[in-house]
Amino acid sequence: MGNGIAHVFAMTGHEVSLIDVSQPALDRALNTISKNLDRMVAKGSITETEKLATLSNITTYTDLKSGVTSKELVVEAATENIDLKLKIFRDLDEMAGTDTILASNTSSISITKIASVTKRPDKVIGMHFMNPVPVMKLVEIINGYSTSKEVSDTIFNKSKELGKVPVIVNDYPGFVANRILMPMINEAIITLFEGVAGVEEIDTVMKLGMAHPMGPLQLADFIGLDVCLSILNVLHDGLGNPKYAPCPLLVNMVTAGKLGVKSGEGFYVHTPGSKDLIVSPSFKK
Ligand code: CAA
Repeated sequence: MGNGIAHVFAMTGHEVSLIDVSQPALDRALNTISKNLDRMVAKGSITETEKLATLSNITTYTDLKSGVTSKELVVEAATENIDLKLKIFRDLDEMAGTDTILASNTSSISITKIASVTKRPDKVIGMHFMNPVPVMKLVEIINGYSTSKEVSDTIFNKSKELGKVPVIVNDYPGFVANRILMPMINEAIITLFEGVAGVEEIDTVMKLGMAHPMGPLQLADFIGLDVCLSILNVLHDGLGNPKYAPCPLLVNMVTAGKLGVKSGEGFYVHTPGSKDLIVSPSFKK
């Protein structure tokens, strides 16, 4: 999601340092941003000049310290792995200026826990963007236990500057977005697992019956089934209620490496460049 976050900051006139340990990953990110800007130019929502101005606002770095020097805000968007995030925040706390706000785009890891490894827990906050970031309006802002009101207000206003609609929530497992979304996705998988209906039928009911833009099984493929499983485990462990237990079918699919779009197969088969919705052979009747 890092490229989408860099895209929206750069497009709204912010100077962005895009940081990754791998230069090829940074090159891919710039390429994705450029393609997504082309899509916006083609749709007439920005001009070619605005596209070029956006790209010129982004500088890439493979060195964390150089990238975060004299920045007012850092938004971390690394893989959803708690040990990795804690290490990054320990390093950020050492390297960023003392007034810099440290935000995480985590979808489920506790902001209070992340803040606890820094010496500035009042300046640590969640800034949860939704995919695809340039399109989706919401920023779920998560106040950790010690996040100050001043920092929360700053991030609320900053999210508005990005053209987003911010919503402030408190730091409990899954926050609001995933506490509600993941049980729905899990229930769709249980419905499939119990043979109540097939993949297409479940998604069609939710698309046409509830006006969801895509069905829960297709959305799970987009999010990544490994990510869905990990968020359900956070809900299950953190809230201690068996209603959040991940469906055994989801666990099996992740174990088998069927992760959705990123692995080429989940509930559907995903071929790069194709928008056809083809149900995976594992679920064909
Ligand atoms: N993740 C990643 N990419 C997505 C996506 C998603 N959830 N949803 C859509 N896209 C991509 C599509 O793959 C497509 O890319 P390409 O053109 O390169 O193939 C592009 O966005 C446009 O999609 P559509 O063809 O569907 O275009 P549209 O204009 O008709 O609709 C949309 C765009 C409004 C984003 C619609 O696709 C939609 O509503 N998608 C679902 C969005 C959603 O629910 N996001 C939240 C996911 S949960 C999350 O992000 C947080 C978390 O913690 C898990």
